[in-house]
Amino acid sequence: MEAEAPGKVILFGEHAVVYGRPAIAVPVFGVRARAVVTEAPPGSGLTVVAADLGRRVRVRDAPQDDPLALAARLALGALGAPEPDVTITVTSSIPIAGGLGSGAAVSAALIRALGAALGMGFELSRLNELVYEVEKLYHGTPSGIDNTVVVYGKPVYFVRGRPPEVFGIGKPFSLLIADTGISSPTREAVAAVRELYRSAPDKVEPILDEIGDVAEAARKAIEDGDVPALGPLMWRNHGLLQRLTVSCDELDRLVRAAMDAGAEGAKLSGGGRGGNMIALVRDDAIGRVESALRDAGAVRVLHTVVSGC
Ligand code: PMV
Repeated sequence: MEAEAPGKVILFGEHAVVYGRPAIAVPVFGVRARAVVTEAPPGSGLTVVAADLGRRVRVRDAPQDDPLALAARLALGALGAPEPDVTITVTSSIPIAGGLGSGAAVSAALIRALGAALGMGFELSRLNELVYEVEKLYHGTPSGIDNTVVVYGKPVYFVRGRPPEVFGIGKPFSLLIADTGISSPTREAVAAVRELYRSAPDKVEPILDEIGDVAEAARKAIEDGDVPALGPLMWRNHGLLQRLTVSCDELDRLVRAAMDAGAEGAKLSGGGRGGNMIALVRDDAIGRVESALRDAGAVRVLHTVVSGC
């Protein structure tokens, strides 16, 4: 029995989404987490093996704050099922702590696979709630956007506390996703913005408002198939994220390199201070922008097409 979940990338609105502004995120199917359930000897209980991390977690002995064990416990609790004798092996091609939703995808794949192995599937909304619970361990105060996109596997317009809106893509467009190679826990970037907010709410509120306006305008442009409008919005969003102190030299260098090489727009994506940036590219510029990103220090560049399904 096995299950998967895709990666995700935030197009607009990260950080401001924690404060109630809208954000837009899309699944990235080129990378994914996968969980495979196999039978284990009677009495051995449930073990989660995270092959890439070299971790082996026996759920009944694991501490409360172990995310893999928590995902498994939440799934069993939700299903009202006793602990089965199985091993769940989780693998993921999604870089960790890079803003591509690795934690949420691993949790989603694990919970899905366990449900399937027990012959009981989850409604997407229920699965989303469970993955959100695990996200709290990774993020502290997650907005819920990561879990929503990887669970639904669709482009999502998200406002905290409201049901996620899956929306239409008027015209597909290409993104390059480039990794700085700097591992940057989202939790820390979110905490830094919270500190900034506490110390100067009057300065931060207008930045959050403007990010929200950019995200609204971007949703309309995406729905209308007005791809040329998206580039300037990305560029503007990046400047606002710089003001929230969540960019860094390496991200700025990649954003600049993409723009100089002919990208329509570029910005950091996700928690920032490392992790990934995204560039909107016309098809004829993909090769050129990709080379420029590598020359500017990107350790990995993914190409993804954002489309309605
Ligand atoms: O770093 P990522 O892509 O996992 O996402 C972080 C998004 C934030 O808005 C910074 C935090 C959140 O919980 O939405």
